[in-house]
Amino acid sequence: MKKDWKTKLIHTEAQVPEGFRSLSTPVFRGSTVLFPNAAAVNDEWNQHEVGYTYGLYGTPTALELAGRICELEKGAYTLLAPGGQAALSLINLSFLKTGDHVLVPESVYSPHRKLASQVLRRFGVEVSYYPPTTGAEIVTRMRGNTRLVWCESPGSITMEVQDVPAIAAAAHRAGAKIALDNTWAAGIYFDALAHGVDITMQALTKYVGGHSDLLLGSVTVRDRDAYDRLGETHQVLGCAVSPDDCSLALRGMKTMAVRLKAMESAALELARWLTRRPEISLVLHPALASCPGHEFWLRDFTGSSGVFSIVFQRQFTKEQVFAFVDGLELFKIGYSWGGVTSLAVAYDFQGNPGRPDYGHRIVRFNIGLEEVEDLKTDLERALGLMK
Ligand SMILES: Cc1ncc(COP(=O)(O)O)c(C=O)c1O
Repeated sequence: MKKDWKTKLIHTEAQVPEGFRSLSTPVFRGSTVLFPNAAAVNDEWNQHEVGYTYGLYGTPTALELAGRICELEKGAYTLLAPGGQAALSLINLSFLKTGDHVLVPESVYSPHRKLASQVLRRFGVEVSYYPPTTGAEIVTRMRGNTRLVWCESPGSITMEVQDVPAIAAAAHRAGAKIALDNTWAAGIYFDALAHGVDITMQALTKYVGGHSDLLLGSVTVRDRDAYDRLGETHQVLGCAVSPDDCSLALRGMKTMAVRLKAMESAALELARWLTRRPEISLVLHPALASCPGHEFWLRDFTGSSGVFSIVFQRQFTKEQVFAFVDGLELFKIGYSWGGVTSLAVAYDFQGNPGRPDYGHRIVRFNIGLEEVEDLKTDLERALGLMK
């Protein structure tokens, strides 16, 4: 057919040679997926089985990232979500319905708590919170309608390491599923599925992305029924991910081992150094005996990452804690973590009955890739400003 130049803008006859091979996964963008004929058109989400149908369910870039996360977490199926919080929502909305009960640790990431308290309750789900130091005794909190038990280990900010296998066993005896936010361990340092977890998720935003420039989440399972529920819910919620972000995450993955190793060693060195500072009453690093649940870290984890918290002595005012954080030069102030830049954020748990009595005296660090001696000098100087 003879084509006008305007038609050729859309339907080109230009050719490029085939056979290009490189070390990077191409960024496949696309909403529309082409079908070979009218009868082949379908809108099924499970593209691994039915072939590509729609960009919403992932282009090859997203499916490669999902496959690689699945391999690392030793799962059978992985779905991606547009952020860690979206992955948490996907799990809750897949496994809960009106009249069900969900158990959530008090140490949970605070937007996850909001999702449970504000959204799930609005839809008639019973939500209760349990102390993260609870192990097998969680059985006393189970109800006839408990369908999902959440763990986050270590917990956000207060860093309690949980007895996940004991909680998993109790949940399974009660016929409930157990889901874990495994972000701190990067899906690597805690083998969630081998410790009884049914559904493991991580914010790929943190260590997989690794450079503070993307938002993605993953959900990994072994069970086919769980995968179907997640996939069907993922489809109707429209949990599309950006192929560009997936490409960045694939690139981040290649250097994750060396980044994690460097961050682990720097964080441990700084955490140990901080235990010797008179201003500090407690260092909450899972690999240190001072961290609640340290024994479970020793038993179940194969390493530690770069996020930990400190609690100042009682005499320090909120203004002094702020002066410390503001006095840091290399540590920047900001949410999220897992990137190459060290960060510090002060939290205030005053009037929060679910959290330990740390009040306004807790600061969480993300340790990045700066020279550790420079970070120490920075901390030392800022501690000096608290006098
Ligand atoms: C433990 C934990 N889970 C989930 C999330 C949410 O991830 P995202 O920021 O990708 O939504 C965060 C973010 O800080 C987090 O710290």
